[in-house]
Order: sequence, then C-alpha cells, then structure tokens
Amino acid sequence: MAVIPEQIHQIKDGSEVVIGNPDPDDAQALLDGTKVILKEDAFNVLTLEEFTKTVEEEKQWIQEHLDDSGKLLLAAKRAGLLAGLLGVAQYPQKRRRHVAMMHLSVQPDVRRLGIASALMQTAIDWATRHPELEKLTLAVFADNVPALGLYRKFRFWEEGRRPREIKRACGRYCDDILMYRNVTT
Ligand SMILES: CC(C)(COP(=O)(O)OP(=O)(O)OC[C@H]1O[C@@H](n2cnc3c(N)ncnc32)[C@H](O)[C@@H]1OP(=O)(O)O)[C@@H](O)C(=O)NCCC(=O)NCCS
Repeated sequence: MAVIPEQIHQIKDGSEVVIGNPDPDDAQALLDGTKVILKEDAFNVLTLEEFTKTVEEEKQWIQEHLDDSGKLLLAAKRAGLLAGLLGVAQYPQKRRRHVAMMHLSVQPDVRRLGIASALMQTAIDWATRHPELEKLTLAVFADNVPALGLYRKFRFWEEGRRPREIKRACGRYCDDILMYRNVTT
C-alpha cells in the first residue's frame, strides 16, 4: 500500500496546501483537473479528445495506487480543491523494479506558488524510503520551460532525447527529453 500521512505545506501566497493520497471519492475532481490541464493543449502527449476515462475507471486507477506498494498518487488540495496531482509508478519487470516513472501537473490558477515543489519533495522522500527504488525517471517536452526548471531544481539530469518525438496539430515538431534522478540514500 503506497499511503503517506497527510502533510500541510505553506505556499508562497501564505495559504496552506494539504498533500495526501486521493481516495476513490475524489475521482470526479481528478478527472476535471486532468481535463483542465489537457485543455491547455501545451505539454501533454495526450489530447483532450483522446482522454475518455470514466469516473469508474478513475476510481479504479486511484484504488490501484492505494493497493500497490510500487505506486504513489499524491493530490495537493488548497481550500479543499484539487490544486495539483503527482503519480509515480514502479516498473513491474524484475530487471527494472528499481526504476519508477513519474508525472505531475498543477492547476493553472495556482502555479508558481511552490505546489509542484511540495509534491515533488514528498514523492522523492517516499521513493528514497522505498526498499526497491533507486531511480526516478520522467519525460518532458523540450519547450516546457516551467517543467524543465522544476526538474533541474530537484536535480533531475537529462539522460536522453527523442528528436521530433512530438508533432503538434500545427505541424511543428518538438523533442522529448528523458530525465532521471537517483533516489538511493
Ligand atoms: C511544471 C509545473 C508542474 C510547475 O508547477 P508549479 O507549482 O508552478 O511549480 P513551483 O511553483 O513549485 O516551481 C518550482 C520551480 O519550477 C520552475 N518554474 C516553475 N514555473 C516556471 C516558469 N513559468 N518559468 C520558469 N521556471 C518555472 C522554477 O525553477 C521554480 O522554482 P522557483 O520557484 O524556486 O523559481 C506546472 O507549470 C504545470 O503543471 N504545467 C503544466 C503541466 C506540465 O507541464 N506538467 C509536466 C509535464 S512533464
């Protein structure tokens, strides 16, 4: 079970954010939050039209994270509303069980307040304590300046680049950068 005790963080505007594990009752809020991010149409591989998850599927996805010791789902809530979401998933193969892939997003109206940093630090602490994990990985569009700044701040290093991996509707290409960070103590 990847469950962490709830943590309260004070963010840059002086308000408090609660970081904890969402439960299946949060499914609708998580779906709505994901749609807001996809609507920005900026830095996700998935487009809004391709996101067809139902509330039931989202509930199941949340429950899987609660039940699986190699998965962690964190929600940041501000004044009871979803402000950010971070997911980590350990690879299942024996030869890759020391590696986990992560993703995160923060709602547009509460960016630059330190919410992603609070989520990231919580995830890194969890991964560092995890008995098998040694390496966190992620992928980021080469033109995603905010996310690159965040990952560099948390000492993620570039380990590879997939040239022209992304082709936007306008026809412009973008590289996909693969990054990693060690989480051994
Ligand atoms: C990337 C993202 C998660 C950052 O969330 P956030 O809560 O605004 O980040 P924080 O306030 O914790 O900022 C942490 C660091 O990120 C960098 N950063 C964040 N926003 C930035 C911006 N607009 N420009 C440059 N650097 C930025 C800075 O290094 C910042 O550190 P600092 O505050 O000490 O300067 C958010 O912009 C987002 O959700 N974007 C859309 C979804 C996305 O791109 N997800 C990542 C996909 S790989």
